[in-house]
Amino acid sequence: MTPVLEVSGLSFRYESETALKGIAFQIAPGESVGLVGANGSGKSTLLWCVAGLLRGAGVVRLFGGPPAKASRARIGMVFQNPEDQLFMPTLAQDLALPLVNGGLSPKEAQEAARDWLDRFGLGRYSDLPATHLSLGQRKRAAVALAMVRRPEFLILDEPTAELDGRAVRQLSNTLNQLAVTKLIASHHLDFLRATTSRAILLCDGEIRSEGPTADILNNSALLEESGLV
Ligand SMILES: Nc1ncnc2c1ncn2[C@@H]1O[C@H](COP(=O)(O)OP(=O)(O)OP(=O)(O)O)[C@@H](O)[C@H]1O
Ligand SMILES: [Mg+2]
Repeated sequence: MTPVLEVSGLSFRYESETALKGIAFQIAPGESVGLVGANGSGKSTLLWCVAGLLRGAGVVRLFGGPPAKASRARIGMVFQNPEDQLFMPTLAQDLALPLVNGGLSPKEAQEAARDWLDRFGLGRYSDLPATHLSLGQRKRAAVALAMVRRPEFLILDEPTAELDGRAVRQLSNTLNQLAVTKLIASHHLDFLRATTSRAILLCDGEIRSEGPTADILNNSALLEESGLV
């Protein structure tokens, strides 16, 4: 089966520093993979390279081809900062926009948008702007937004930041019901245990270790060495 994502020899340099060095890994269809690493280890940079928003040296292939526009349309991404993605006068409009752009009528788009907001427990906020929501609620809305076009590959950057315990559980349950391939960067180890089967540990821009999530996250010596605990 063609991997959803193939990364090899990927390096990325910001002006002042090298954020990724020789990254290589693959994700098979239907897999859910966690990305862990200390602050500044390169998680967000890697997700941006995977989504084609940053271009590094090396190879990134999505659905068996270069990350061209066509394959990027099959990706749903949630940025670390939800303000970057929710800016319309109402949440329902935020979620309807990509659907209208994808060819649905405004009425169909509104209905689908409201369905997704309900599914994420945000139905009663549908007619409010994202700025009227708490940060945790905005984070959840950003995940709902990433899902509206039914992407095949969901990329989430710190989806649980600011969420309370119940909201984390709700998000885990929701994600586990979504039969899409996932790559999730998070500092929330229990959340990754609940939502991913494999984990990649980044350390100073390099893959330090990779394996079943339980093996990586239960290895306290490895986590300590990598600045995670
Ligand atoms: N826009 C930028 N310009 C310059 N350097 C950057 C930029 N964004 C990130 N970096 C640097 O690249 C490195 C990796 O940053 P990145 O944001 O990918 O880490 P991260 O693992 O996502 O961290 P966090 O856990 O804090 O979200 C850091 O050392 C950071 O200082
Ligand atoms: Mg980050």
